[in-house]
Amino acid sequence: MSTKPLRKAVLPVAGLGTRVLPATKAIPKEMLPVFDRPAIQYVVDEALAAGIEHIVFVTGRNKAAIEDYFDRAYELEDTLRLKGKTGLVQELEGDLRPAGSMSFVRQQSPLGLGHAVWCARDLIGDEPFAVMLPDMLMMAKPSCLAQMKEAYDKVGGNIIAVEPTDTPEQYGIIDPESRDGRLLRMKGMVEKPKREQAPSNLFISGRYILQPEIFGLLAYQQAGAGGEIQLTDAMARLMRSQSFHALEYDGRTYDCGDKLGYLRATAAFALAHEELGAMAAETLRAALADEK
Ligand code: G1P
Repeated sequence: MSTKPLRKAVLPVAGLGTRVLPATKAIPKEMLPVFDRPAIQYVVDEALAAGIEHIVFVTGRNKAAIEDYFDRAYELEDTLRLKGKTGLVQELEGDLRPAGSMSFVRQQSPLGLGHAVWCARDLIGDEPFAVMLPDMLMMAKPSCLAQMKEAYDKVGGNIIAVEPTDTPEQYGIIDPESRDGRLLRMKGMVEKPKREQAPSNLFISGRYILQPEIFGLLAYQQAGAGGEIQLTDAMARLMRSQSFHALEYDGRTYDCGDKLGYLRATAAFALAHEELGAMAAETLRAALADEK
């Protein structure tokens, strides 16, 4: 089974963010702040911490702000320099990635996650790649993708991160067969099962390491749950011919897909902030006390 090194990641960012309207009417949901940084920055940082060298964003209309965010902001930098705010300029420069290490491709119609990933096929080529769903923010040390990469370096093949959930009907759910520590073998997986039909409580939490053969399956994948081309369905087919593991990673997933999930993530990342965490805790406590 392939253990070609993992160098590239696909970040599907074409979604409309309807569950967080009106905040997302004029800006992409990936640019909404989670405490002091846009949500997408956390995901990019996670990718870099796992040694990813090239990131492919699958974007859509009205997502130009994401491209701009990862580019230089000349006017802003000049203005900051003139005002003597060199610390801030350095901070912005520090976040810049080397030229040519990010690509952007458009998904023209919202046909589903499987289709979004398929749109990256030419940029990924014939090598393994990660998929990272930017709605899901992971708090983990080492980062979730780094833990997956460690497992990948041992067992190769395909690996997905999983975590327990109380709401299996909202997610892709795995059907586990056996377990070796945190690594599970699976019999199958199903996208958004009815609660009573869920094969387990372990949900696919939005981080994947996949082999490029998935693209051939995605090309002919029929629409599944919700009428969309589902990545889960193509993975369930890939499982028949390739090694596939689920990793119950050590950490916690925050689903920023809706307003309360956003609030939870913002609180959690504020509390975990290196410099401002203690003050954030005080601020949150004070806000709650005011409500009583
Ligand atoms: C997608 C995947 C699903 C996964 C979920 C994690 O669903 O299809 O398998 O569990 O992301 O957020 P979506 O949230 O796009 O409906």
